[in-house]
Order: sequence, then structure tokens, then C-alpha cells
Amino acid sequence: MPTMTSVESPVRLDSVRKTYGSGESAVQALAGVSVNFPAGTFTAVMGPSGSGKSTLLHCAAGLDQPSAGRVTLVGTDLTGQSETQLTELRRQHVAFVFQAFNLMPALNVEQNVTLPTLLAGREPDRAWVDQVIARVGLTQRVKHRPGELSGGQQQRVAIARALAARPAVVFADEPTGALDTNTALEVLTLMRELVSAGQTIVMVTHDPVAASFADAVLFLVDGQIVTQMAAPGVEAVAATLAQLGARAKRGQR
Ligand SMILES: Nc1ncnc2c1ncn2[C@@H]1O[C@H](COP(=O)(O)OP(=O)(O)OP(=O)(O)O)[C@@H](O)[C@H]1O
Ligand SMILES: [Mg+2]
Repeated sequence: MPTMTSVESPVRLDSVRKTYGSGESAVQALAGVSVNFPAGTFTAVMGPSGSGKSTLLHCAAGLDQPSAGRVTLVGTDLTGQSETQLTELRRQHVAFVFQAFNLMPALNVEQNVTLPTLLAGREPDRAWVDQVIARVGLTQRVKHRPGELSGGQQQRVAIARALAARPAVVFADEPTGALDTNTALEVLTLMRELVSAGQTIVMVTHDPVAASFADAVLFLVDGQIVTQMAAPGVEAVAATLAQLGARAKRGQR
């Protein structure tokens, strides 16, 4: 049943490190990250390409195992959990929205939205599904397939799908990266409204405008959080990014 408000910080990372590969080819993607994502908050994660943003999301969501440190997801320490247990935890508690919408082309809007709930072994709550589809403004399109929708509409389906299983946290990796400016603003406004209604969202973005919709921004450089900003303004975010870009390690992209 709904876990959204039952835990103060649905996601916590303690000294998380992640190294890919070994020996000379080893890459340290996360170099000791500690952070809380409190319930009902919208956090943006920014930083140069290769700074570890996607790795941070993947570790936070139990999609990837840290090399060291601890991730706590809805009160459960993910350390030492089996793949099967992690899959189950993800299905019950987290949802993803990606730049590429990743909808099933053969399924209509309603079927796409209910799929994760079905995969989690639960019966979709009809009233809630209708509510989330209405929330993203697609009530008139429930029987349409993704190919019959615009990019913004498809991303709204992906957001409705993310919400349908009532996740404790929605992780979004550049959700507006493939959208034009107006459509992106529409999607960001929707995400902001969802957070006001209690949803927790963590969003990776390269766009200072997108980040300005968040409550706070974490800036990563070389796998570490180097600074954080509350109530981020577009200008301030852009200025900080420019500074950090100059500081970032060369030759990584
Ligand atoms: N599966 C992997 N195997 C090996 N190295 C990886 C893997 N995934 C990520 N890396 C490396 O880890 C570092 C961080 O990657 P990550 O994808 O987290 O960066 P990012 O901040 O999301 O970058 P971008 O903005 O380009 O998406 C990079 O140097 C990357 O090459
Ligand atoms: Mg990335």
C-alpha cells in the first residue's frame, strides 16, 4: 500500500563509492557520496558529462550496486540484497522516467501506465490509474498508442506510468532532454505539482531552467558532491555550472 509518506527520507546514501572495471581501466564513477532525499522534495542533480549523475541515480535506485558505502531505500539497507530482492524493492518503491520515453509501442496509454503495477504483482487501482492519467492530461488519449502521441504527450505517459504504482521515489534522468522548450516547461510544471502533492522526485538535468523547478540542486564533479544550492535560480545555477565545468577533470568525455 502507499509508502509515499511513511518514511521521512525514502532514499539515503552514505559514503557511496562506485568503481567500474578494475586495474588500469578502473573508473571511479562515485567517490564517496552522502545525501538524503527527503519525502516530498524535488532534487536536481547536475554536473559535467561523466561526473557520475546517472551512476548516482542507478545506485540510489538499487539498479547498480555500490562498490562501498550504503544505500537505504524506504528503510531497507540495500547492501547484500540479492538481485531478486533488489528487483522486488525497485518494483515496489521506485520508478524511472528517462530521456527516451521507453513506452511499449504496441500498448495503448492505459496499458503502458498499468504495466509496472502488473509486473509488481499487484492489481492496478482503477480509480488511481484514472486519476494519474487525468493528472497528466491524457484522459482523452487512453486508447491511443505512443506512436499516435507527441513527444510531450509520450513523456507525460511515462510520468503517469511512473506514478501508477505509487512509488516512494521517482528518478528522472534528463526527462526533458528530448523535448522542445514549451513541452519541457509543461512536463516540469507537472513534476513540480506532483511534488507539491507529496511525491519525491530526483532528476538529473543539464538544463538550468529545469533545475530551477527543483527545491535544491546537487552539483557533482568527478563523482563527488562539490556544492548544493537551495531554491535555485536559473542564473545562479548557470553560473555555478560554468565554474564547475572549468574545474572538472579534462579528457573524461
Ligand atoms: N557500466 C559502466 N562501465 C564502465 N564505466 C562506466 C559505466 N557506467 C558509467 N561509467 C563511467 O563512470 C563515469 C560516470 O558516468 P555517468 O554515466 O554516471 O556520468 P553522467 O554524469 O551521467 O554523464 P552524462 O551527463 O554524460 O550522462 C564515466 O566516466 C563513465 O564513463
Ligand atoms: Mg548520465
